Amino acid sequence: MFNFIQTIVLVVVKNVFLICLGFGLFVYVSCNKTNDDIQDPAWTTLQKKLNIPAQPYNYASPYLPAFFNNQFVTILDNTPAENPITNWGATLGRVLFYDKDLSLNSSISCASCHIQKLGFTDSVRFSKGFQGRHTRRHSMSLTNARFYLSGRFFWDERAATLEDQVLQPIQDPVEMGLSLDSLTLRLKQTSIYPILFRYAFGEEEITSEKTAKALAQFVRSIVSTQSKYDKGRIQVDDREADFPNFTAQENLGKNIFMKNLKVNCFGCHNTDVFAMDHPRNNGLTVDNADSGIFIHTQNPLDIGKFKAPSLKNVALRRHFMHDGRLHSLQEVVDHYSEGILPNPNLDGHLHSNHPFEPYRMNLSVEEKNALIAFLHTLTDEVLIHDEKFSNPFR
Ligand code: HEC
Ligand code: HEC
Repeated sequence: MFNFIQTIVLVVVKNVFLICLGFGLFVYVSCNKTNDDIQDPAWTTLQKKLNIPAQPYNYASPYLPAFFNNQFVTILDNTPAENPITNWGATLGRVLFYDKDLSLNSSISCASCHIQKLGFTDSVRFSKGFQGRHTRRHSMSLTNARFYLSGRFFWDERAATLEDQVLQPIQDPVEMGLSLDSLTLRLKQTSIYPILFRYAFGEEEITSEKTAKALAQFVRSIVSTQSKYDKGRIQVDDREADFPNFTAQENLGKNIFMKNLKVNCFGCHNTDVFAMDHPRNNGLTVDNADSGIFIHTQNPLDIGKFKAPSLKNVALRRHFMHDGRLHSLQEVVDHYSEGILPNPNLDGHLHSNHPFEPYRMNLSVEEKNALIAFLHTLTDEVLIHDEKFSNPFR
């Protein structure tokens, strides 16, 4: 009998102890919640203006298919050691990217000329700046901007790094027209940016250098991995083999893109991220009205050479080339098939012996349609609808 009572008492004591322990743990965990604590007044301030999740989206280590993991792709990654992508850094970058207050009269943001549903380029040939004046060149797609060997930016590579590049449109007299001092002052006076800078960089201090870092992190996070091409590529060892998810027409187009004996598209737009290795002249003009990278290298052999953005999402674009002179993929394909113009700096991939005798692919209508169908497989519907790249302002 005594033993029985002792057992009952022990069980009760043990359960009370466990309940207390559980409650204690609950209180501890609740008090140690970070940004997602609804009690955090800073978080409430952000929530009033922004539609961003308390647990930030994963920008730092998103899903990458296995075929991204090879030296030909990783060598192109221009992420510098001093600015790795972090989830809060890219979140801050996203807010800045969509903020019209980055232009003098608060009329346009980066996203006005780099539209998500178009793979982050503009619908018009020349973009309208903050006062309605037009840019000199066509807006570049930002899809896969992270992958470019030299890490230089713009059609003419005049920006040495992405961190340098992202501050240029803000100060550009046609694009956004805001000085860096005014920019920093503006951001400081808001309720949201001191908090976002603290989440991203550990302190509320706002500088243009940190602004650049955050914008660059966001831009580098725009990587395309879910197009029809990616879904086929993952199923084969050799990218030159027929993809099981492609139609016969798309596989024919892929063959032309990768293996044509005259113009080998893949020779210049290469690797599975479809990036260029370095600027080239693709025979658009004889007179070189825009001298391309010569503008900053001053090397006559560079006249008329340009960088091209990755061809991922190319079928979403409405104008093509640095000056947007071509208006459809049909015109692009016609250019490479019959229209390459002679030029002293014409790239070696586009002629056999002499830069004044460009190749003529003379593709049939069927082959041209196949090449265009293949270019459509590079469209990434997931990326262009992904909320983590969308406008966060309420
Ligand atoms: C008024 C339209 C406009 C606005 C606003 C604008 N851009 Fe651009 N962007 C362009 C044009 C046009 C180019 C190509 C310019 C050139 O090469 O001379 C470009 C090029 C770029 C490139 C180069 C891509 C590459 O692969 O080399 C990046 C990156 C970029 N913009 C990011 C931004 C960011 C970030 C912002 C906001 C801070 C921004 N842009 C605002 C029109 C715009
Ligand atoms: C000699 C290297 C080279 C080869 C080969 C080549 N391209 Fe290009 N491509 C370029 C360059 C350089 C540009 C940018 C030129 C400019 O804007 O002045 C470009 C631009 C493009 C663009 C426009 C991208 C944009 O955002 O405006 C498309 C589309 C394109 N190429 C498709 C192809 C296809 C399809 C083939 C094969 C038939 C091909 N290229 C072969 C070098 C090449």
